[in-house]
Amino acid sequence: MNYFQGKSVWLTGASSGIGLAMAQQLAEAGAHLILTSRRADTLEQVRLSLQHPERHQVLALDLSQPETAVTHAQSELGDQVIDLLINNAGVSQRSRILDTDLSVYRQLMEIDYFGVVALTKFVLPRMIERHNGHIVTVSSVAGKVGTKLRSGYNGAKFGVIGFMDSLRAETAEHGIAVTSILPGFINTQVAHNSLTGDGSALGKPDPDNAGGISAEECARLSLKAIAAQKAEVVVGSGVSKLAPFLQRFAPGIVRRMVAKR
Ligand SMILES: NC(=O)c1ccc[n+]([C@@H]2O[C@H](COP(=O)([O-])OP(=O)(O)OC[C@H]3O[C@@H](n4cnc5c(N)ncnc54)[C@H](OP(=O)(O)O)[C@@H]3O)[C@@H](O)[C@H]2O)c1
Repeated sequence: MNYFQGKSVWLTGASSGIGLAMAQQLAEAGAHLILTSRRADTLEQVRLSLQHPERHQVLALDLSQPETAVTHAQSELGDQVIDLLINNAGVSQRSRILDTDLSVYRQLMEIDYFGVVALTKFVLPRMIERHNGHIVTVSSVAGKVGTKLRSGYNGAKFGVIGFMDSLRAETAEHGIAVTSILPGFINTQVAHNSLTGDGSALGKPDPDNAGGISAEECARLSLKAIAAQKAEVVVGSGVSKLAPFLQRFAPGIVRRMVAKR
């Protein structure tokens, strides 16, 4: 039997990109999905397009307001069992520190960091009670290597890896698996949706992401790592895949590279 067969999987960011591709592959693998993002209509279209739509449910939440999101999730899900939480929703950034409002840093932290913490804290007590569960967060190579124009995104994605490391240490004795996924450049809407200095969306693609691997390939490699209960995996190709390795063993080279890019 495959790892996902019959599992109840709560997947955020399911309306687009990596999350949408994961939803399709998880449904094919026999998972029962709770599909989350802000856009209820889009999520409903996604649900209807999946194998066995009757097995899946839509839960629209805005993770930029984590407390409200959890209150809503609590009233919709109640005591429903969650076997696997995949914190995939996220927003990137394209703006220099000097040009970026503090409110944009807060928004990035709410979605990319506090959203993860809030949903994890929501599912964790039941998982510990059942001595069974798996929590996954899609961080980024940007959670290991800081680059220009992404200072807030880097901060949130670095932070969330630390949170996941701590979660892994605290839950090992309870039989909970904890996985961090670190994608490199993936061809999705992430650049288009990324925040600029005043909080508005960039609204155009970025050649780095457009030149990356497909969302389907990223989802396939991520789900393989999740099924193997890996602690941390880098998913991508080329320089973005190599960057965390270089950062660890040749940090000076990485510092020079990112200052020039
Ligand atoms: N693409 C890359 O190169 C890359 C690289 C490294 C890491 N990542 C990470 O991969 C994850 C998925 O990104 P993607 O590339 O698939 O980008 P994407 O196509 O822009 O998808 C982002 C997803 O997050 C959801 N989302 C955004 N803001 C939200 C909010 N406030 N509340 C709830 N959901 C929200 C979006 O849905 P709605 O708009 O419907 O809310 C969408 O489903 C993110 O965590 C991203 O940081 C991506």
